[in-house]
Amino acid sequence: MRAATASAPGKIILFGEHFVVHGNPAIASAINLRASVEVVEAEGGVISLEGFIGDNPASSAASYLVKKLGYNRGLRLRISSQIPQSVGLGSSAAIAVASAAATLQLIGRKLDHRLLLEAAHEGEKVAHYTPSGIDTSIAVFGGAGVYTRSEGYKKIDMGLEELLVINTGRPRRTGDLVRKVREFGENNPGKFGEILDEAAGIVDEALRALREPDLEIIGRLMNRNQELLRMVGVSSEEIEEVIGECLRLGACGAKLTGAGGGGCVIAVADRDQMDKISRKLCERCQVMRVGLMAEGVRIEPRPGSP
Ligand code: MEV
Repeated sequence: MRAATASAPGKIILFGEHFVVHGNPAIASAINLRASVEVVEAEGGVISLEGFIGDNPASSAASYLVKKLGYNRGLRLRISSQIPQSVGLGSSAAIAVASAAATLQLIGRKLDHRLLLEAAHEGEKVAHYTPSGIDTSIAVFGGAGVYTRSEGYKKIDMGLEELLVINTGRPRRTGDLVRKVREFGENNPGKFGEILDEAAGIVDEALRALREPDLEIIGRLMNRNQELLRMVGVSSEEIEEVIGECLRLGACGAKLTGAGGGGCVIAVADRDQMDKISRKLCERCQVMRVGLMAEGVRIEPRPGSP
């Protein structure tokens, strides 16, 4: 039986999550945690996923390609992932992109980026309803960049190489939080317009600070971005507690990353402070020191292949 394996990175959003759904720019980076999907040709026309029942980003992305490209065999998929699920680190997008890439490889097609994004977008909709496309773009292209719905993903140079990711341990559904922000905007159009303008200004200023990198400015901008996210209702008690603790322990700045409502907090600090924060917070949370600007999607060698 023919088989192929591909992997794709998770992501953190440094600035601009949620506002990106409404047309604003956001800055994100691929991280050095990856999801891999193995795709094996199977009898019949069925796409099955080991260990999962029902819709899943991996099987939806593969089904989309199989239909589009007129492939008439079945597929058996297996996921293995280092990315914690439903906590804002782009796990569904990485799984959807890796599945789409492995499927294309198995069918004997090139890794066409446009097709990968299209298939992964279908896969991500399972968890998300109306994704902006930022998570799938990062999983495909890797590195770090600015994303807008109108212009897509543009890579940037970033001097910031690592940060802390603290998992509050509370999973949530991205789609529910995206809906919450949309409702805030509909009920408070004037205020929401001001928040979007300020968030766009933060992204502008952050681009310079990230290049250097100037941790003090990055931290100040993250703290202000967090206040804007709090205003639109996507922070939570757990997030605020973890952020408070990071700042007390010397972080330059901290904010939620991804959809919020639980999930992960990111914090920037100099190296010594990072160690101190990790030691203290790991008593009650999962704390990861995460490398940024990781490689995008790639085909993985198969066991026994040269
Ligand atoms: C999710 O990682 C980021 C959000 O901005 C949603 C999206 O952009 O699709 C909350």
